[in-house]
Amino acid sequence: MLDAGPHAERDRMTDQIATLLSEQRRFPPPQAFAAHAIAQPALYEEAARDRLAFWENEARALDWIRPWTTTLEWRLPHAKWFVGGQLNVAANCIDRHLAGPRRNKAAIIWEGEPGDRRVLTYWELAREVGRAANALKRLGVRRGDRVAIYLPMIPEAAIAMLACARIGAVHSVVFGGFSAESLRDRINDAQAVALITADGGYRRGQIVPLKRFADEAIAECPSIRHVMVVQRRPGGAGDESFAEMKEGRDHWWHRLLDPENPHCPAEAMDAEDLLFILYTSGTTGKPKGIVHTTGGYLTQVTSTTRYVFDLRDDDVFWCTADIGWVTGHSYVVYGPLANGATVLMYEGAPDWPERDRFWKLVARWGVTVFYTAPTAIRAFMKWGTDHPARHDLSTLRLLGSVGEPINPEAWIWYRKHIGGGRCPIVDTWWQTETGGIMITPLPGVTVTKPGSATVPFPGIGAELVDTTGKALPKGGGFLTLTEPWPGMLRTIYGDDDRYRETYWSRFPGRYFAGDGAKLDDDGYWWILGRVDDVLNVAGHRIGTMEVESALVDHPAVAEAAVVGKAHELKGQALAAFVTLKEGNAATAELKDDLKEHVAKKIGAIARPDDVLFSADLPKTRSGKIMRRLLKDIAEGRALGDTTTLADPNVVARLKEQYEGQES
Ligand code: WT7
Repeated sequence: MLDAGPHAERDRMTDQIATLLSEQRRFPPPQAFAAHAIAQPALYEEAARDRLAFWENEARALDWIRPWTTTLEWRLPHAKWFVGGQLNVAANCIDRHLAGPRRNKAAIIWEGEPGDRRVLTYWELAREVGRAANALKRLGVRRGDRVAIYLPMIPEAAIAMLACARIGAVHSVVFGGFSAESLRDRINDAQAVALITADGGYRRGQIVPLKRFADEAIAECPSIRHVMVVQRRPGGAGDESFAEMKEGRDHWWHRLLDPENPHCPAEAMDAEDLLFILYTSGTTGKPKGIVHTTGGYLTQVTSTTRYVFDLRDDDVFWCTADIGWVTGHSYVVYGPLANGATVLMYEGAPDWPERDRFWKLVARWGVTVFYTAPTAIRAFMKWGTDHPARHDLSTLRLLGSVGEPINPEAWIWYRKHIGGGRCPIVDTWWQTETGGIMITPLPGVTVTKPGSATVPFPGIGAELVDTTGKALPKGGGFLTLTEPWPGMLRTIYGDDDRYRETYWSRFPGRYFAGDGAKLDDDGYWWILGRVDDVLNVAGHRIGTMEVESALVDHPAVAEAAVVGKAHELKGQALAAFVTLKEGNAATAELKDDLKEHVAKKIGAIARPDDVLFSADLPKTRSGKIMRRLLKDIAEGRALGDTTTLADPNVVARLKEQYEGQES
């Protein structure tokens, strides 16, 4: 599964390590923060002494309907946590906060892109979730059924997820930026019986017509029996003519919920019952349905939210991720709400109507803990310091980063211009598959180094290995996880063989994360990025094979190879090398057409930046496309070793052509 072979990976890593090694700055936690931090140094010692006891203790912070009998059942590569225990995730995120002073506390503060606002207290959230849960039941949705959710960032996204959790239905949230075809494939893979969508959502002042995409998708989804449609804006995007409603199948959310009883009993779920499926890109053309279960997942996200974000009752926590990604699941909805926190949710773009929208939001709502992605931070840097400087950001006390390696320069900028030099930064490494944060500083404990995710969270086992799987005490290698953790994926939905193959076969006995990393003399982790055929574009995972399949689906294309190239803002951008079928002219129009085709097949996030037409693609004598060489070309580097190529001239010609073109 490693693309270009050990040598190419090592060369690339050596370059990056050299840059990171020069990073000498250290930032100890501010004393005042450390003194009162929820996570204290003893946490590491406790977990090191008895890993399972640590996680048991964390699980005890939840409300269990029935206690577990076995903490961990580990039959590699399958883990079961808190076996025999029963709980309900929605009850943990809502009901248990209703008895005390949190009853009237804001659970969700929401702002739409056009500026509309809503605040839902825990009490109100309970009633909405109860109604939605009863409405789902009325439509015949039962425990164990899959429900697809395709919504903008509106409170109903969280309400829909919690309503599913309440009745034991398994949600599959599909990011609203994905195309109709992507939605269709995910619905069909999970055999979802219902879809929850909206008439539209706002993005940079435009309306994204989700219901129209949904209609296109479910025309080919025989398993879908009902569609609930949230009216995003009555009279605006919510004009009934905007979303055509199909009699008997489609139901307006508000009409369906209106007569429902706000009380809905919470199902007693087994700790290992499915909570959700979330699709993510892999090294083949077909996305993987990552399966997460109930007890272990909730334990890990609740625990990490509390310790990593030092979350307290008076905090306003803003994780800027969309609900369509795992970050939105774990740190917009489940982690913070299980802790009884107040979360801010924002629907739209950071540069709408102006480039200071985020800072306006921070000031207006008094955000205290802010969690975003390096790609956003790099955009803020580019937009200039005036935007944050115009707003009062003094409520902020802690900053987080997630999704891709953060370059030290961006880290320092973030600290100074957003954090006012006083806020600790937590750079958190994890994945859709890990469910929750795995490598991270604890904000009152860990000395941070810009660009390093620092050390494993208490109770997490990580080890660096070389290509043969031998553990390395330091240096460059591959990041593996050595022990099962509560929030780990349980399998790939409907494809356990792929689960074993993808995560557990490269280094037997270990979970291979797909990332290259460096471990320094202090035992700090520096994540270098993916070493497989998965790209990270603006913090989003895209499989090269998926984009290649989308390209060859176009009638003019014979063959395609897609690589990531370094990009100032997005981290990586897509470059596509395409050979055309006989009789097709390599025109600028066709180039645009191909980019559009990919956006339509997958979603705008997968649109290639560059398309290059070529008569041939560089291949090994066994016919494997040498993506490493294409990457060298796309990034304007001297060509690496070409001796294994069937025809070395192909790549030299391509390089000349690439450098002579504008794409
Ligand atoms: C991949 C997982 C976890 C939520 C968002 C992405 C990269 C993630 C970091 C970080 C360096 C990071 C890795 C990982 N990644 N966080 N702090 N430093 N790299 O979830 O889509 O499942 O992607 O994102 O390459 O494997 P995802």
